Amino acid sequence: MDVLEIIKGRRSVRSFSDKAIPKESLYAILEAGIWAPSGSNIQPWEFILVDDPGLIKKVKLVSPGLYGLPKALIVLCFNKKRSEKAGRIGPSLAVMDISMAAQNMMLMAYSLGIGSCPIASFNKIALKELLSIPEEVEPVLMVSLGYPSRWPEPPHRRPIEEVVHLNVYGQNLRR
Ligand SMILES: Cc1cc2nc3c(=O)[nH]c(=O)nc-3n(C[C@H](O)[C@H](O)[C@H](O)COP(=O)(O)O)c2cc1C
Repeated sequence: MDVLEIIKGRRSVRSFSDKAIPKESLYAILEAGIWAPSGSNIQPWEFILVDDPGLIKKVKLVSPGLYGLPKALIVLCFNKKRSEKAGRIGPSLAVMDISMAAQNMMLMAYSLGIGSCPIASFNKIALKELLSIPEEVEPVLMVSLGYPSRWPEPPHRRPIEEVVHLNVYGQNLRR
């Protein structure tokens, strides 16, 4: 698959089959995460891989945005002690860094036939308690992982001509 094919084919998957994810695939997905760009290369992230089915069920209870029963979850957090190196903009940079890592992970997963979904809707306090996340580490996003029971249809995208402005805002890009 070429890169655009992977980018366009990835879907947010919310129902998963029972098939286990091989360890090497999980490792490749995590590796894709650490190779994301980060502001000043601070790499403020900490990733928590949750593969214990009992724990996944508990996380689901505090995560209204988590659909289906995935085989694994990656909780993407940033470490405030690391992000402080960027000064006042540290936390907002860290959120961007984590978003890029999450996208890398989801594209890697898709290239391996594995479905994923980014999840921002969860109770941070309850999640920190469940996963023993220390005070200085902030969970931002979760990525659920599993083989899809089906690939969803692609949701609508706003067309390029509507989204892109050429040189100055409001000027259309023509093909
Ligand atoms: C920052 C962010 C947070 C999201 N949070 C959730 C969520 O809590 N639950 C969920 O089911 N989907 C969530 N999504 C997935 C979006 O609904 C999905 O990306 C969008 O509908 C487009 O579909 P696609 O990913 O299949 O292209 C989130 C996506 C992003 C980027």
